Amino acid sequence: MRLRKVLIKLMILGTVLGLIIFGGIGEFSKSQKANSLGQVKYLIGVSYPNLNGPWQLQMNKEIKNEIARHDDTRVIFTDAAQNDEQQVQDIHSLMSYGIDLLIVSVDNASTLTPVISEVYKKIPVIVLGRGVKGYDYTLYIGSDNQLNGNMAAKEAIRLLGNKRGQIIEVEGNKESLQAEERSKGFRETIQRESKHSIIETINGNWLKDRAEDELKNLLKSGVKPDLIYAHNDAMALGAYQALKQLKIEGIKIIGTDGLNEESGGLRLVKQGIIDATYITPTGGTSAVQYAIDILHKVPGLPKKIILRNHEVTKSNVDSYLTEGDNSSIPFIKKKERKIKLGFAQVGSESEWRLANTDSIISAAKEAGVELILKNADYSQKKQMDIIRDFIKQKVDVIAFSPKTEDGWEEVLMEAKNAGIPIILSDREINVEDQTMWTSFIGSDFVEEGRRAGKWLVSDSKLTTTPLHIIEIEGTANSAPAVDRKQGFNEIIQQNSKFQLLQSYSGDFTLDQGKKWMKQALKTYGTEIDVVYAHNDDMALGAIKAIEDYGLKPGVDIKIISIDATIKAFNSLKLGKMNFTVECNPLLGPQLMKAVKDLENGIEIPQKIITAEETFDQKQSKKEFSRRAY
Ligand code: AHR
Repeated sequence: MRLRKVLIKLMILGTVLGLIIFGGIGEFSKSQKANSLGQVKYLIGVSYPNLNGPWQLQMNKEIKNEIARHDDTRVIFTDAAQNDEQQVQDIHSLMSYGIDLLIVSVDNASTLTPVISEVYKKIPVIVLGRGVKGYDYTLYIGSDNQLNGNMAAKEAIRLLGNKRGQIIEVEGNKESLQAEERSKGFRETIQRESKHSIIETINGNWLKDRAEDELKNLLKSGVKPDLIYAHNDAMALGAYQALKQLKIEGIKIIGTDGLNEESGGLRLVKQGIIDATYITPTGGTSAVQYAIDILHKVPGLPKKIILRNHEVTKSNVDSYLTEGDNSSIPFIKKKERKIKLGFAQVGSESEWRLANTDSIISAAKEAGVELILKNADYSQKKQMDIIRDFIKQKVDVIAFSPKTEDGWEEVLMEAKNAGIPIILSDREINVEDQTMWTSFIGSDFVEEGRRAGKWLVSDSKLTTTPLHIIEIEGTANSAPAVDRKQGFNEIIQQNSKFQLLQSYSGDFTLDQGKKWMKQALKTYGTEIDVVYAHNDDMALGAIKAIEDYGLKPGVDIKIISIDATIKAFNSLKLGKMNFTVECNPLLGPQLMKAVKDLENGIEIPQKIITAEETFDQKQSKKEFSRRAY
């Protein structure tokens, strides 16, 4: 029996690798996919970079507790004890034991990304808490670390007041994306919004003692800070101890993690040892829940779950220390009747939008949610009126696809004052106060733009002469237009052979795509090599204009688009389009899950990002019959 051998091997190697099986080794029989009770089916591998920090221990606790609820699943843990090469080895070992899914938390993104990409080719991978580079994983669950840094900077500015403060930053592991992103968010906000300066950065490697020693050395050299920002609470505590030993008083300290345990951030704030912390959930519980869904092949699962950070200071720490009263988001009070969702759809501008509307209607029916869906006919003013009407009707939740990024403060403040949670569907907004909305469900539009650009780079790798591009953008100031432009530019700007002739603003409609392409052909004629349209409808309009002009779309002019609707697939099949990036409109089920969670008092993530693919002419053939929209 292969498995019995594996288990014996595991027990022998257990101490060397810090490897533990959870859930009863003796009962496990993977070769038969059933144990004596006929239950055990899945083996999950969990790889940690270290298990010596309180945050990782909390993650481990959550995973163990959650896995205990699933009789048919077992877990193997490995702890690399802060040795990146060891973690690579651990992952190889887990693979050789025949795991069905890997959950991995990463300290060194550069070293670990290649091995995780390899594993992802064979089994599903959940990246937890600390990220890898790129998109080679099934699901990422973690906080928005940059936002975390922004929030910490805002609090630093508040704590320092009018004086020109001097700040020391205590970083986590230099190689970790989590540390990099927190630092970026903190620095950007400090530089943009204050006169304070970050005078020194020290590397605490997430560890209390290391932070304490490094800071002591620095302070002894005569550096005088007003505030210390540490990327975790353990290092914030180290900073406090360094200051105490040197009898330096009056320095503000901000940490991150916000655990409720001995020496955890919440208790440190309560005791006045540090001034603020940010609860950054580990995601351990969600990781197991999603792992089970992935193993059971539940359709429509997201690509990224961005968990909510909570700011904790002296003024609100007590509510977080009291169990059950610890969320800053509005929940829905349970009612006798069905829960009422008001959805302000932006319009009917595209095939994508029609599929999106259908998905919301059918998911609401299935979930037993009373849906009031109103269409704003692509007018922001009308969309605001609809939201105001929903507030008047006292619906339980409001969701909407914002036409543009700007201009929502007033109406969202009205919804907030009425205690109605707002869910942003498919498009994000620009508002200073992030508590005006509860959650975002949709795509990563910047990544979509990057994918479009990457295809062009790879398709033209043998071309040395300039390639002239026409861009047909979506609605001005809408999130998909802004982000898709940014992502595409990011990639093509790396090579001067890509030359953007002109960008037109096409409003996501077929007619506008056709109109602007006609105009482009009039101006540039056969000079045009490539059209990059921000959605399929505009690409289809452009194709029509190119044909009318007497050229062959897909051959004389390459067509790159976004959405991957069935109509785009037809064009790919006919060779008129070259590449489309999927943007998933089927957001209904995730939206209804969020609404139900709000009703059940379950804190919903800050952002739920959908999983998406890309299709060239060849790949589209395989997918054609499966296309749902
Ligand atoms: O916001 C999503 C975009 O809006 C889709 O890509 C486009 O087709 C739609 O109109």
